[in-house]
Amino acid sequence: CGIVGYVGGQSAQDVVVAGLKRLEYRGYDSAGVAVPADGGLAAAKKAGKLVNLEKELKDRPLPAGNTGLGHTRWATHGGPTDANAHPHLDNAGRVAVVHNGIIENFAVLREELTGRGHHLASETDTEVVAHLLAEAYSSAGELAEAMRQVCRRLEGAFTLVAVHADEPGTVVGARRNSPLVVGVGDGEMFLASDVAAFIAHTRSAIELGQDQVVELRRDGATVTGFDGRPAGTRAYHVDWDASAAEKGGYASFMLKEIADQPKAVADTLLGRIGASGALHLDEVRIPPHELREVDKVVVVACGTAFHAGMIAKYAIEHITRLPCETELASEFRYRDPILDGRTLVVAISQSGETMDTLMALRHAREQGARVLAICNTNGSTIPRESDAVLYTHAGPEVAVASTKAFLTQLVACYLVALYLGQVRGTKWGDEIRTVVRQLSDIPRQVEAVLGTMEPVRKLARTLADRDTVLFVGRHVGYPVALEGALKLKELAYMHAEGFAAGELKHGPIALVDEGLPVVVIVPSPRGRSVLHDKIVSNIQEIRARGARTVVIAEDGDEAVVPYADHLVRIPAVPTLLQPLVATVPLQVFACELATARGNEVDQPRNLAKSVTVE
Ligand code: G6P
Repeated sequence: CGIVGYVGGQSAQDVVVAGLKRLEYRGYDSAGVAVPADGGLAAAKKAGKLVNLEKELKDRPLPAGNTGLGHTRWATHGGPTDANAHPHLDNAGRVAVVHNGIIENFAVLREELTGRGHHLASETDTEVVAHLLAEAYSSAGELAEAMRQVCRRLEGAFTLVAVHADEPGTVVGARRNSPLVVGVGDGEMFLASDVAAFIAHTRSAIELGQDQVVELRRDGATVTGFDGRPAGTRAYHVDWDASAAEKGGYASFMLKEIADQPKAVADTLLGRIGASGALHLDEVRIPPHELREVDKVVVVACGTAFHAGMIAKYAIEHITRLPCETELASEFRYRDPILDGRTLVVAISQSGETMDTLMALRHAREQGARVLAICNTNGSTIPRESDAVLYTHAGPEVAVASTKAFLTQLVACYLVALYLGQVRGTKWGDEIRTVVRQLSDIPRQVEAVLGTMEPVRKLARTLADRDTVLFVGRHVGYPVALEGALKLKELAYMHAEGFAAGELKHGPIALVDEGLPVVVIVPSPRGRSVLHDKIVSNIQEIRARGARTVVIAEDGDEAVVPYADHLVRIPAVPTLLQPLVATVPLQVFACELATARGNEVDQPRNLAKSVTVE
């Protein structure tokens, strides 16, 4: 969910709604705002996308006020209805609260409140907080103190922001687990789940820590722990460009983010490769002697980041000869994995807030493992809780389905593999320098792919009425196939599946019949040509059964030409790095196909960009 709070000199409703627009990627089931004004509290909320709320506010504007809060929701407790939308108010309508996360003991608290005569109007856990706050306020007489008292009673993961009719110049926030950042303006202050909500107003931010309460007034902020003791904070400068969070002339954020990839990759490499080809990853604060002692690497991630993690396994094992496992973060801690002080856990997350990944890393640290995060969001929870972090420099990714963040996650994974190889002095020293050189060429090669996508878009449009598309690949082409299928599921709501090409014959080939589109990712014929030959045989097997083959192969690979109904050329890069160029046509394909089906690509149904529940 996305949260915004504001106190200052501008119209709170306008600032909050503009901020919510920037956060809509975090959830868009419903939205709402509240403004203390004229001695009371006015609120509006609507199910569905933010435009519904905007329409409501246009028809029935709230009274003017300079303090306010807002929320855009991804439903957990209770369906996406007007009643369940945030903010939630107490019975007297004096306090309004918005919430991100889950309050685990809400049933007990709800029962208590009903026993004391409260009437709860929604099915949400958040409403319970509004009622508790109203009660606490009547004894504490101060919103920040009321918030601290309530937080001490809550279990689970939550971020809360509240306003009270009797304190029209105050916004109070509380943070446990899910993110909350303070924006410091000139005579105005902001509170948001993500800096994107306020970078149009200020680049100066303060990060809130775990279990902290912040009280915002026009002239500043006071931060304490839940226990009321003053708490330390970290101020930082947001170097994201406000225009980077705008569409910049593209029809969707996704198209812009796909087009941004050469720069995102270049930025992620920037300053990390020395003149001699050696890597400088000063941010990886795990000392070299500890990295030399590592005897196993475990990569944990979700969704698209998991596919980056699957590719990391190929790179890490090949380059370092360390055993590496990649596991879905949501499965990891529940199977009691074997971890100790010599295990390096790599947690990959664009947002740095994915609860499944966070829980996996906490489990890993409890078992004594060292954790290295690969993350795109400065100051987010996952890097904060890790031993070290390697930031990807993709800039803000707004479209829910990940594109440029994925490419930069891959770059970061290769850098980690190479750095481990360098530090451990494996016999691959020369190869390390070669791969580093090859990585430096990737931005140019991604640019070249982007310049030749028109036939891919045309093909996508002709397939818009299909039910199923299959994707197959071998080696690192297998995770690429999974990512191609995931993109199509997320954006086009189509049945799409990725398979290891060698596995087709063990079952999935039964799905192939006349005209079924099958996308094949072909490894480079140079180097490990066995891999290439095997996949050429696989293409023949599916084509013989009627499949319509879409073959993604490098320039100059002539062996595939006779078996390709559609041929998509990508630049020649070593197979290990090929995902960086081979994924791009699959992103363009999914985006175009979804658009042809009339879907909104930036905000696919049922999804949220940052999933802060397990
Ligand atoms: C959500 C998004 C996916 C993303 C996954 C992991 O499910 O919809 O696009 O890949 O979370 O996100 P993260 O921020 O941890 O990379």
